[in-house]
Amino acid sequence: MRLPALLQAPHYAQQSMLDPAGPKAAAVTDFWWFIFVTSAIVFVVVGGALLYGALKRPGAGPPAAVAVDAERRVGRVVGGAVAATALILAVFLTLNWQLERAIASPKQGDVLSVDVIGHQWWWEIQYPDSLRPSNWITTANEVHIPVHRRVRLRMTSRDVIHSFWVPNLSGKKDLVPGRVTETWFEADSPGVYRGQCAEFCGHQHANMALLVVAHRPDEFREWVSAQRAPAAEPSDSLREEGKHVFLSASCSLCHSIAGTPAFGRIGPDLTHVGSRRTIAAGTLPNTRGHLAGWILDPQRIKPGAYMPPNGLDPRQLEALLAYVGGLK
Ligand code: CUA
Repeated sequence: MRLPALLQAPHYAQQSMLDPAGPKAAAVTDFWWFIFVTSAIVFVVVGGALLYGALKRPGAGPPAAVAVDAERRVGRVVGGAVAATALILAVFLTLNWQLERAIASPKQGDVLSVDVIGHQWWWEIQYPDSLRPSNWITTANEVHIPVHRRVRLRMTSRDVIHSFWVPNLSGKKDLVPGRVTETWFEADSPGVYRGQCAEFCGHQHANMALLVVAHRPDEFREWVSAQRAPAAEPSDSLREEGKHVFLSASCSLCHSIAGTPAFGRIGPDLTHVGSRRTIAAGTLPNTRGHLAGWILDPQRIKPGAYMPPNGLDPRQLEALLAYVGGLK
């Protein structure tokens, strides 16, 4: 029996650091819970003591001997509280130090390297291959990874500081122009994990999202070989016309499509744009209608984005949509 398409789709995780989907994120979440529970206990104890002190009726002045005794008792209680506070902070500090060391960098071994380049307001994703440049993959706004394999991210920015954050998999790491920063993560189970830019980077900071798609290893290999292929050639006359529109209108000044003369580097590579789940960095689902709206008037959807409006007539638009949508 065929399942409905929605059930077949990979699991979409809710974006939350409290729902970790990999060993690194789980270590951080466990530590977070430890701090949270400890702090909650301290809050209740201190709040209770405060309430007890505030509600206690002052009695008549005690005899002098008792007062000295009470004074000593208060001294012991305060001393004990200070010692407990210092101890708790020392435990936090030690565990934090251990955690930082444990998650600092991926251990040696089978590590997948992915480059992430921040742009206002989208993510360029590259899978470098220094031995065979033809195997180099460039995509945008989706990081595809195999499960149970550490992924090392090398990151930089083309313009301003951005911050890479996929809460279910990893903490934040800044992308700084002129520098390369590194982080890593690993996913335990196949699924789609949403991430977003976590550093204010201008007008469309809020619409700078990305997806991490974790595959079973065999599915990941399929994805890699599909992405390495050049763009699909137009399979009919409408798509042929669409390709012509793409190359003759302003599209090719900013976008690349491998296997065609379009090699603009300003906007996302569109070689396999039809295979992506969203357009405009997670702003819209990748459907024909949304794509049409986006091509015609991006400024309505994402004001300030660097894509200009495109005055195409209906026939040109239809052809362009057929071509671009077919770039699976
Ligand atoms: Cu990029 Cu905020």
